[in-house]
Amino acid sequence: MSELERLLANNKCWAKTQLDENPRFFSDLSQQQAPEYLWIGCSDSRVPANQITGLPPGEVFVHRNIANVVVHSDLNCLSVVQYAVEVLKVKHIIVCGHYGCGGVKAAMASKEHGLIDNWLRHIRDVYRFHRSEIDGCTGEDARFDRLCEKNVIEQALNVCSSTVVQSAWKNGAELSVHGWIYAVKDGLIRDLEVSMSGLVDFEQASL
Ligand code: CO
Repeated sequence: MSELERLLANNKCWAKTQLDENPRFFSDLSQQQAPEYLWIGCSDSRVPANQITGLPPGEVFVHRNIANVVVHSDLNCLSVVQYAVEVLKVKHIIVCGHYGCGGVKAAMASKEHGLIDNWLRHIRDVYRFHRSEIDGCTGEDARFDRLCEKNVIEQALNVCSSTVVQSAWKNGAELSVHGWIYAVKDGLIRDLEVSMSGLVDFEQASL
């Protein structure tokens, strides 16, 4: 069996298991999706949103890119946020980074990587905003961890300052934005405790 045939065989097996557990699984799901969560995470293959949060298909809307960056001119990410907030009416947007993120690591190095350096520039900006705190950490590993955390917090703030979230809050939507970080080495998510549920929270957090 080729590598790709293995994936298709896995899929058949998975679909059968779902049907064995619930014969209406796919027919119900095909009618609608009503997720309460939007997940903005890293593309890293070790950080799959559904699996690490134990959520089945239909319960989390997902956007992933290198180093979970939210850029105000990225129509891809902004469209996902708009659809999630205005159409799906999710209650929570979770920006989840991870320790050991290759994108963050590359942004810390002076080596050139080509096209991706333009994307990593956004993480270099995070480093520049928090340089004294990050440089104040003892050891390269601690600085790397701190930049991974700061990147999550900055990207969560970027979600909050997007026109979509700003107008949702102005219109009284029940919507919270959270910053989490996952550790590949123990499989656990840490809450960075930067949750924002409205304009007042956001203004305090962005001071
Ligand atoms: Co990553």
